Amino acid sequence: GKNGYPFYMEKEIMEQPDAIERTITNRITSGMPDFTADGVPDEIFTQCERVNIIACGTAMHAGLVAQALIKSILHMHIDVDMASEFMYSDPVIDEKSLVIAVSQSGETIDTLEAVKYAKKRGAKCLSIINVKGSSIARESDYVLYTNAGPEIAVASTKAYTTQLAVFYLIVAKMAQLRGVFSQEETQSFIRELQRTPDVMKKVLEGRQEIHKLANKVLEAKDLFMIGRGLDYSILLEGSLKLKEVSYIHSEAYASGELKHGPIALITQDTPVVAAVTQEKLMSKELSNIKEVRSRGADIVLFIKESLAKDIDRAYDTFHLPDMQDEFMVMPASVALQLLAYYVSSDKGFDVDKPRNLAKVVTVE
Ligand code: M6R
Repeated sequence: GKNGYPFYMEKEIMEQPDAIERTITNRITSGMPDFTADGVPDEIFTQCERVNIIACGTAMHAGLVAQALIKSILHMHIDVDMASEFMYSDPVIDEKSLVIAVSQSGETIDTLEAVKYAKKRGAKCLSIINVKGSSIARESDYVLYTNAGPEIAVASTKAYTTQLAVFYLIVAKMAQLRGVFSQEETQSFIRELQRTPDVMKKVLEGRQEIHKLANKVLEAKDLFMIGRGLDYSILLEGSLKLKEVSYIHSEAYASGELKHGPIALITQDTPVVAAVTQEKLMSKELSNIKEVRSRGADIVLFIKESLAKDIDRAYDTFHLPDMQDEFMVMPASVALQLLAYYVSSDKGFDVDKPRNLAKVVTVE
């Protein structure tokens, strides 16, 4: 049941600290990432020359976060493909490729077909999946289950953040095995990951503040979400979430790209949700926010607490509890999920069953 919550989506958002705990606990030994119990051998992480992530929708957005991390930490060649486009794009795939398929249900037909194609080309396939024994799990060489528990709401929430948690473990493992991280560095990365459940709890405790921010976008027909780097990756997901459950047209844009076109659409009727969690990108990001503000847009700002000191009070702001910058996607994702949820429920929609959508997509 819904455990007293009006909708599964809210229940599943609230479950995330526990879900993350379940995803990571049994995969950490003496502070180091450990996939022994999953039967995933180290060689697949050392023998590959490139990584291809294949997924759809929210799962693909988890892949985009992973791509940013793998590029910056491992300096490896990594592509993320929409499963529906993958095999028609003449991808470079062979024995030197590690394919990582990501799927909550394990039944998405586009992702399943892409895995079959990659395996035929000789790639090793590791999957990140929530549903045990599902078709993609059976088709894959190795599986890391997310252990999020059943996800009933059509809009994916805890599956996404547990997929991210598995990716952090993979990044730590690869960095250790490929000599990018020392043992101490690996352990400190893992320790930060282990803080995630507590940090998420803080966001959840502040949910009434986010509820108030939801009011600011309730009447919007169109909305933009802007950010740079990792912030852009998570806003793609935040924007999908809002579209799905609230039917507001929302576009995530890399802030620096706005002036190359879409800024023409910014008026006082297009609220802008901005995320600022990456210190090195902050000053550029803040000037992009000023640009849209000066065109009349109302700003809803999600900002890392320790970066928020000198920020103009003109913005409606939520402070995200601090983690190291590369982990800020965890608190930020929960905040964006809550925003979408409150907009939908305040509009009186059937949050768990948005129109035209199915939980499992088995047509190509
Ligand atoms: O079960 P999967 O993770 O393979 O599903 C992929 C997408 O269909 C799914 O994430 C979809 O985008 C959700 N409705 C997002 O909330």
